[in-house]
Amino acid sequence: MTNLTSEDIDAVCTLVNDLCGICWDESKSYLIEARLSTLVEQFDCENYQDLARKVRAELVPGLKEQVVDAVTTNETLWFRDESPFEALRHKVIPELIDDKGKSAFSKRFRVWSAACSTGQEPYSIAMAFADTISDIESWDIQILGTDISPSAVAQASRGVYNHREIGRGMDSSHLKKHFVARGEDSQVNEQIRSMCRFEQRNLHDPMTAMGPFDIIFCRNVAIYFTPEDQKRLFNNLAGVLAPNGWIFVGSSESLSNLGPEWKAQQHCRSNCYRPKMTAPATV
Ligand SMILES: C[S@@+](CC[C@H](N)C(=O)[O-])C[C@H]1O[C@@H](n2cnc3c(N)ncnc32)[C@H](O)[C@@H]1O
Repeated sequence: MTNLTSEDIDAVCTLVNDLCGICWDESKSYLIEARLSTLVEQFDCENYQDLARKVRAELVPGLKEQVVDAVTTNETLWFRDESPFEALRHKVIPELIDDKGKSAFSKRFRVWSAACSTGQEPYSIAMAFADTISDIESWDIQILGTDISPSAVAQASRGVYNHREIGRGMDSSHLKKHFVARGEDSQVNEQIRSMCRFEQRNLHDPMTAMGPFDIIFCRNVAIYFTPEDQKRLFNNLAGVLAPNGWIFVGSSESLSNLGPEWKAQQHCRSNCYRPKMTAPATV
């Protein structure tokens, strides 16, 4: 049973949509209370409408950021789903290396982990590169991790993870090779961290001056957006993709309804797309 009025629900859902493009409606009343009741109390708000008003008026420094942190779901793990990382090692990286052999920048890779949460995804990508390329230190590999959640981006930049976080998908061989101890925690080592940089970024913002990227991971985030926003997002991502680039989505996500150029590629059982390489079907 919820104490929220329909005005509270409207105010919060509109705010969450405006801030993050996350699509909440009255079915999410339990989530509104679970995620935001502490902030309502902490910032002396009369109710949820008052909280939304304070955020919009930017009356309280840092409140907007705390709301974004509270409403986003930062669930992630190392080498999530495994198959995209197998596809990177066995198909995508070797093929891109062959293609780039003919270009002026034969040792340069640009990768974007869009909605990277606390960093496990971009660091896993960096480790997949290190698994595949033996002289990795002589390559120019930049992996950009972005997320809308300020606290997630801050943790990703530090690259420090506790025992429980390490236990979610990190195997002993990568742990030994790519981490250093920091008290009870573990930090991603300098070689892997030097390949990654992090920024706070809303995926609904224009992507001007970004790319071109050889590989984009955009996994388990579009599920929170409306179908129209999903379509706009993936078309924008295709716009910042290199001509022979790859886009990876989550294991339960499919883009085939976006058009013929979004024909799914099946490599190592991963869900990936090459929208600029897939010729539209002829009739
Ligand atoms: C479930 S996590 C997925 C993390 C990672 N991609 C993975 O698959 O493990 C979803 C992430 O999307 C981020 N997010 C939600 N809305 C966003 C937006 N509009 N722009 C950028 N990131 C967003 C959240 O902060 C959260 O960290």
